[in-house]
Amino acid sequence: MSKFVTFEGGEGCGKTTLLEGLKAYLNQHNVDYVATREPGGLKICEEIRNMVKYSTEEISKRAELLLFSASRAELVQNYILPNLQDGKLVLCDRFYDSSRVYQGYANGLSDEEVMNVTRFATNGLVPDITFYLDIDPKVAFERKGGKDKGDRIEQRDLSYHYMVREGYKKIAEKEDRFIIIDATLSKEQVLNEVLNKLRKEGIIE
Ligand code: TMP
Repeated sequence: MSKFVTFEGGEGCGKTTLLEGLKAYLNQHNVDYVATREPGGLKICEEIRNMVKYSTEEISKRAELLLFSASRAELVQNYILPNLQDGKLVLCDRFYDSSRVYQGYANGLSDEEVMNVTRFATNGLVPDITFYLDIDPKVAFERKGGKDKGDRIEQRDLSYHYMVREGYKKIAEKEDRFIIIDATLSKEQVLNEVLNKLRKEGIIE
């Protein structure tokens, strides 16, 4: 089943835990899938990840968008599309909606600017389903035990992270491919909501 499913949310929303649970389920049920992440997934993309997350240098907002987009272009071309062409279910931890909110809505670039760059980077690839794990950033940071000190994006003010949340909500309301999940639910409940949607769409049995 060649479908492309992405996972979005603010820092500490529980995407990693959800994806671990989901992968365990898919493995048990012999689903033909691959999972990757953004930025990252391939060696050069992990190098870009390291730069955008941990560089101590200032990065301007347009350059930041282009770095995330460069990683995305590589991952789409050399990982996501080949796996979709092989008929696999492709899961991706973050995709261009992260750029729309982190570089766009919360960092002052318009959605049009971000989407113009994005369409070039992805050659127009759009996820089939996007799960958005919604949580108040203050609650999320308390849950994860504070911000990761070296992380340039996580370190931004709480007001930035509230803008990220607002941005996600605006996009999620507009776009049918979005499924909003309350990320304060237990990890079992969150996983069940995802499995139910994948069943409903005929992606898993
Ligand atoms: P994470 O995978 O641990 O969530 O780290 C990725 C970080 O990069 C996170 O702070 C969100 C940020 N990010 C962007 O700002 N724009 C993007 O396009 C992507 C994919 C991630």
